[in-house]
Amino acid sequence: MKQVILVGFMGAGKTTIGKLLAKRKGMPYYDIDEEIVQDQKQTIAAIFAESGEEAFRKLETAKLQELLGKNGVISTGGGIVLNADNRELLTSHPAVFYLQTSPTTFLERLKEDTSRPLIQQKTMAEVEAIFEPRVPLYEGVASHIITTDEKSPEVIVEEIIAKTTC
Ligand code: S3P
Repeated sequence: MKQVILVGFMGAGKTTIGKLLAKRKGMPYYDIDEEIVQDQKQTIAAIFAESGEEAFRKLETAKLQELLGKNGVISTGGGIVLNADNRELLTSHPAVFYLQTSPTTFLERLKEDTSRPLIQQKTMAEVEAIFEPRVPLYEGVASHIITTDEKSPEVIVEEIIAKTTC
C-alpha cells in the first residue's frame, strides 16, 4: 500500500502540505475532516454542536480505518491521536509524519479561526493546554518528525519526499 499519513496539531499545515505532497507524488489526497464533512453533509462545528465530540471521534476512527485501505496522502485531524485504537493503527504504519509546529506559529495561524470547535472562545494559554499533552502522542505515533516553523510548504514537502520510499 502506498500511503503517507500526516499528523500534528491544528494549524500545523497538514492540509496545505498534504495537498502539495499528493500533487508532487501523483497520489490521491484524502483529508479525514473533509471526508467526514462530505459524508455527513455537515460542518465539523455542526457535528460537534449537534452530536458531540465523542460522535465525531467515532466517525474519525472509522474514516481512518477506511482510508488505510487506499493508496494516497492522508491528512488527519489534530485529535486523531487521542484514541488508543487510532494510535495503534498509526504506530504500526511506516510513513506517519508528525508536522511539528511551535505554539507561536499555530496560535498565530489559529487566531481568527472560526471553524474549529475546540478552540472557540479559548485563550492562547487554553489552546496551548490542549496541545501540550498531545505532544508525546504525536511523537509516539510518528515514524518521522518534521519541524515546520519558518519553512516553506515546498521545503517541507521535499523533506517528506526524501524520507518516503513509496
Ligand atoms: C481537532 C482538529 C481538527 C478537527 C476537529 C478537532 C482536534 O482538525 O478534526 O476540529 O481535536 O485537534 P485540524 O487539525 O485539521 O484542524
